[in-house]
Amino acid sequence: MSNKIQSLSGYIHEYQKSVNEPEKFWARIAESFHWQKPWDNVLSWDKEGPHVKWFENAKLNITENIFERHLFTHGDKAAIIWEPNDPSEANRIISYRELFELTCQFSNAMQAQGVQKGDRVIIYMPMIPEAAVAMLACARIGAVHSVVFAGFSSSALADRIIDCEAKMVLTSDGNFRGAKNIPVKAVVDEALEKTSTVERVIVCKRTDAEVTMTPDRDFWWHDVIKEESAIHAAESLDAEDLLFILYTSGSTGKPKGVVHSTAGYLVYTQYSFENVFQYNQNDVYWCTADIGWITGHSYIIYGPLLSGATTLMFEGVPTYPHPGRFWEIVDKYRVNQFYTSPTAIRALQAKGLEPIAPFKLDSLKVIGSVGEPINEEAWHWYHDHIGKGNCPLVDTWWQTETGGIMISPLAGITPNKPAHASLPLPGIQPIIVDAEGNELKGNNVEGNLCIKFPWPSMLRTTYGDHKRFKETYFSAYPGMYFTGDGAKRDHDGYIRILGRVDDVINVSGHRMGTAEVENAINEHPRVVEAAVVGFPHDIKGQGIYAYVICDEEGITQEVLIDEIKNTVRKIIGPIAKPDEIQVVSGLPKTRSGKIMRRILRKVASKDISNLGDTSTLLNPEIIDEIIRGAQVS
Ligand code: WTA
Repeated sequence: MSNKIQSLSGYIHEYQKSVNEPEKFWARIAESFHWQKPWDNVLSWDKEGPHVKWFENAKLNITENIFERHLFTHGDKAAIIWEPNDPSEANRIISYRELFELTCQFSNAMQAQGVQKGDRVIIYMPMIPEAAVAMLACARIGAVHSVVFAGFSSSALADRIIDCEAKMVLTSDGNFRGAKNIPVKAVVDEALEKTSTVERVIVCKRTDAEVTMTPDRDFWWHDVIKEESAIHAAESLDAEDLLFILYTSGSTGKPKGVVHSTAGYLVYTQYSFENVFQYNQNDVYWCTADIGWITGHSYIIYGPLLSGATTLMFEGVPTYPHPGRFWEIVDKYRVNQFYTSPTAIRALQAKGLEPIAPFKLDSLKVIGSVGEPINEEAWHWYHDHIGKGNCPLVDTWWQTETGGIMISPLAGITPNKPAHASLPLPGIQPIIVDAEGNELKGNNVEGNLCIKFPWPSMLRTTYGDHKRFKETYFSAYPGMYFTGDGAKRDHDGYIRILGRVDDVINVSGHRMGTAEVENAINEHPRVVEAAVVGFPHDIKGQGIYAYVICDEEGITQEVLIDEIKNTVRKIIGPIAKPDEIQVVSGLPKTRSGKIMRRILRKVASKDISNLGDTSTLLNPEIIDEIIRGAQVS
């Protein structure tokens, strides 16, 4: 039974029902899934904890809802279309039946290697079908996966392994990305020197790169599955058993492990996928994200596969071997729904119209955007030149923590308004509050975005640290989830997301905590102090700007800056490398010793027209030096 909304009045009707009687609403949506045992209670919500449980005491397995539930109707349908990095290499089209067998076989292999229900498994893999198999096999046996983006450094990987006490790492020999061949296994080896919990590493062959295999610890994927059967009985999981942990940057300290549980995540990712993209059973859907991010989890793997969709998985990058690569793939597979990031759109827009010209793009019905605010210029370019003016554009706002899309047009149903995420999905109750937490009702208001009622796929905790969970999300406005984003409700009641209001920078749709980058910079022995802020960047949305105080004796600034960039690359990964580093002799500080970031942000943005009140500064003279050094004209 489909829960697909068909019209704007249908949406309004569903939305009202979801707010008036949330439990009844979600119970009806959840009925279409396969439950080994039904729930006793749809929602329990302890505001103090805070603790949220959905579909309490139900038993299920998410992979039974992907496979067993669909095999009779579409066992032969393509589940995954895999397009390799290099277009001259053969693609792979994997049916639901085949994917089921691969998942079962790998589930057996993981169990034979000692993984049990509840164990944590790190997945550090390229965009190949085995990465999907790895996630699904974890879910099938009840192991908790934590996918780490394969561009993160060995020390970022080690931090995550340590935090979740992972027992197993799944990886590959190498990773093809554009013209690059990245030695992934070597990164794992380096990370494991710093950790002590990992008992097994399973390595999938992809690039034929030479790797070192540590005896009794490292095994080849093809060897461990050789003797295993393709039949496997799914573990029975509790609705609230952990499905996965995904690490994400916050405004303070180290990345936190966002925890998602089984039943609520299943219900919400499927429901939101089907409704936002208006997926029809013969469509080919493509999301260009990497599985290392939440978008890859919810809208390459779980949402589409739970809907019995055909999901395209692309190993490469948009500009390799030519800047028309995305469009070539759209035409090749007659993609119907295409979902990407504003950064990718802006980067491709910068290449002009020529790379698009050879392609028809006439199969596209829906185009989507996620990860950062999409500026109006990029919105129009995407709408006109890719959607050819006749595809609804879904600007989907959500977060790692929300598990699924929260505010977005439903394709072809909600009227499109450029750069507006527009209206909440049924079941989602966003509100805009002022600094004191008063709800700003009505239209034409701007403030901080909160969600006032639980939804099924909300994060349950931050792994191993419930206090941090409470402090981060529920302390600014007690009883409500605070998103960290600013938002505006316009005169039509449509929501526009304004970006982060905390110390998180959104670089190419990837979240970076300023404190995390500062910590990495401080690892350089010459650095005395660092302050990191975001600034507007034409392609990436935001860039990283670092002010550093250093010991410059006997070293040129150029070399020093290069070294600092390399330190960050080593500690976090290339995505965190500052775009600009300015060496300064001091940082503007208040009398209580706090860095006045507001000023640093303005200077980095080359906007010094109104620096605001600087009277509380301990060292106001530093501002002139900083402005001069930043070469603001
Ligand atoms: C931002 C990605 C504007 C926002 C799914 C949020 C957006 C953060 C949009 C979460 C959008 C995401 N419009 N901003 N459509 N989508 N964001 O956890 O600041 O990687 O808080 O999840 O990205 O990033 P995350």
